[in-house]
Amino acid sequence: MLEIKGLVKQYGKFTAVDHLDLSVEEGNIFGFVGPNGAGKTTTMRIMAGLLTATSGSVLIDGVDATKNPLLLREKIGYMPDFFGVYDNLKVSEYMDFYAGAYEIPYGQRDGIINPLLDLVNLSDKKDVYVDTLSRGMKQRLCLARSLVHDPKLLILDEPASGLDPRARIEMKDALKQLQTLNKTILISSHILPELAEMCTQVGIMEKGKLLIQGSVGDIMQRLTQKRVVSVRTTGDVAKITYVLKENPLVRSIVQHQSDLEFDFDGTDADLADILKSLVMKGIPVTQFKEKEGNLEEIFMQVTGGAAL
Ligand SMILES: Nc1ncnc2c1ncn2[C@@H]1O[C@H](COP(=O)(O)OP(=O)(O)OP(=O)(O)O)[C@@H](O)[C@H]1O
Ligand SMILES: [Mg+2]
Repeated sequence: MLEIKGLVKQYGKFTAVDHLDLSVEEGNIFGFVGPNGAGKTTTMRIMAGLLTATSGSVLIDGVDATKNPLLLREKIGYMPDFFGVYDNLKVSEYMDFYAGAYEIPYGQRDGIINPLLDLVNLSDKKDVYVDTLSRGMKQRLCLARSLVHDPKLLILDEPASGLDPRARIEMKDALKQLQTLNKTILISSHILPELAEMCTQVGIMEKGKLLIQGSVGDIMQRLTQKRVVSVRTTGDVAKITYVLKENPLVRSIVQHQSDLEFDFDGTDADLADILKSLVMKGIPVTQFKEKEGNLEEIFMQVTGGAAL
């Protein structure tokens, strides 16, 4: 559905997107993660045909985004990170305006607009002026308007930013529903755990490059080869350290008052053996568990601690 090859965007001498390759299959939700200034918006604007690339190619459903802007418009729905709404327009008029822009005949508009307002939970606001809507509502309206022409690929630039937790859940639900309609969705965000829950794939971008991409599970596995285990005891922590030091698979040990953490380089069976040896030595172990990597940590690992 989406195939980006060798994409470069320079603003003067500054390279905002640096030889980016990315492919997303139909029906996937791809999460674009990266710190401020990584190049997410720039990439998305090129995909949406709003910005010309310096070099490289972007194919969307077989259409060359750089060469065929009119056909591209049919294929994609774009929700920008910042957008204005017009004064003096009611929600239904606003949607009608966009349906008109996509040359949808009058007779078909209600049949398209009503289900979309349902999807984003704004059916009861049809006759309200758009500039009086709350920010979250405007954001959902913007999602609805990007769907009027039934695009195959949705490009959403931080659709959940600034939303309260409830509005976030609603936005997420709307996106999940869109996935069931077999839309392909590209979504950028700084909120990593949220993306993990909803995306089929994620890519981590920094300084114009995609550092790593794959399913959330894949990325975790590739990055969390180092296993970290925490142990807690009601007894003497030093005794645990003593036992652990005898094991060649245990790397570094960090001791606290009633617990410790150690890096470990072995299999699950090896781990079970360690627990067994602790218990055999009569140490009262109250907790023994492997720490799970989360996306935030992974993000920090790959980007070397760049700000979220
Ligand atoms: N019109 C422009 N002229 C010059 N530089 C620009 C322009 N637009 C963006 N940049 C630069 O390109 C880089 C990438 O910006 P971009 O907006 O794509 O980042 P982003 O990943 O979307 O960041 P954020 O998370 O803050 O939205 C930044 O360093 C930015 O300063
Ligand atoms: Mg941005």
